[in-house]
Amino acid sequence: MVTTNTTAQSARTNNGARPTPVQYAHIVGWGMAVPETVMTNDDLSAIVETSDEWIRTRTGIRERRIASDHESTATLGLKAAQHALEVADVLPAEVELVICATSTPEHIFPSAASLIQAWLGANNAGAFDLSAACSGFVYGVNIAAQAIRSGSIRTALVVGSETMSRVLDWSDRSTCILFGDGAGAVVLKASDVDGGVLSAVLRSDGTGGDLLGIPTVGSLDIEGVTEISNGHKFGKMHMNGGEVFKFATRVIGDSLTQAAQQAGITLADIKLIVPHQANARILHAAARNLKISDALFMSNVERYGNTSSASIPIALCEAVQQGRIQPNDYIAFVGFGGGLTWAAMVVQWGSPQVTAGTSNFINRQRRQLSYRLAAWRRTLLRASRSIGSSFARLRPEHGRMDRLKHKAEQHPFE
Ligand code: UT7
Repeated sequence: MVTTNTTAQSARTNNGARPTPVQYAHIVGWGMAVPETVMTNDDLSAIVETSDEWIRTRTGIRERRIASDHESTATLGLKAAQHALEVADVLPAEVELVICATSTPEHIFPSAASLIQAWLGANNAGAFDLSAACSGFVYGVNIAAQAIRSGSIRTALVVGSETMSRVLDWSDRSTCILFGDGAGAVVLKASDVDGGVLSAVLRSDGTGGDLLGIPTVGSLDIEGVTEISNGHKFGKMHMNGGEVFKFATRVIGDSLTQAAQQAGITLADIKLIVPHQANARILHAAARNLKISDALFMSNVERYGNTSSASIPIALCEAVQQGRIQPNDYIAFVGFGGGLTWAAMVVQWGSPQVTAGTSNFINRQRRQLSYRLAAWRRTLLRASRSIGSSFARLRPEHGRMDRLKHKAEQHPFE
């Protein structure tokens, strides 16, 4: 039976235009993790020719966090995910899908999502990384929500995690001053209660791919080179800031308006917009274009800089902590970045039953046990695989395989 939320329904006008989902997808948990090390604008001015004044006035950023040698995209993502599971009071075994939106994974594969899945002990989940740069978190939430709304899964974890400091060109003052490291995560759960993720607009324009990017191992002719043919450094970010700025201010307004229309509401119904945190001036220009107050945009770029796919879930966590989102509120996410990609989404906040800190004591112990078991399982499986392969080498057929391999090397066409 579908329980109708009357407050929500009254504000929505074209609800009938979209098929009623099998179940609604609500955000029921949220968490964030940032490295301890703070890098201020003054610290940066010792590295490149810049100043606190220039960075603050052009971007609104005062400081950002930088990952230590022991931190990575997956470890930060894991911490954020654990906080989100705690708030949601969900056990790792209940999670059926783990998506990690990131541009800075440790490996091309295994995905950061698979590492997080294993470390959590989320043994009933599929996992993959999602590459849509700073729009990735909104893309990920939409995929998870669609899986829930179709009835194919009940619980999903979406992480946005980045170690941007590892892909920055620290000699390029036009980019290295902008970015920081961190992670955020949400848990989505099926519910009969109307609301949750109401709409999503996902867009891409690959013709702008050269405006913002990080060339990696699939680039042509990379062996032994530090620069690829168009002058971009291998593994380092490059950006045309002015063009990205213009693109961002345009798509924020367009996509938010479309997402609101799709959800059957107007922008005036939205209580808070949680945008990708790139530059305070971008948000100011977008607010001016939309003729809405700057205060409608959640902003914490001042303290974390641009954390790419992590910036929206980190800002969401802080908005909840600050009491800026209440049950039944309409909120919107909007992301934009490399690809070029952009994405906007309207969510009706519908988790009155969940508030941080109220999570069930027994379940908390079970989650801790799951994390410990996951670590033991990993150690045991690795040990048994290595013992297994040592034994395999002693078997007679192994010697035969070695002889065949040797023969094949000597006579490759036989
Ligand atoms: O996640 C999405 C990804 N990226 C973005 O959203 C970034 C979008 N773009 C921006 O935020 C802005 O374009 C920037 C902050 C990157 C640059 O601001 P701007 O107002 O567009 O500056 P500009 O590139 O037009 O540069 C103005 C001047 C230049 O000097 P000249 O040529 O006028 O003498 C730059 O060389 O500022 C200079 N400059 C700097 N000066 C001090 C550029 N970077 C710096 C710096 N410190 N860090």
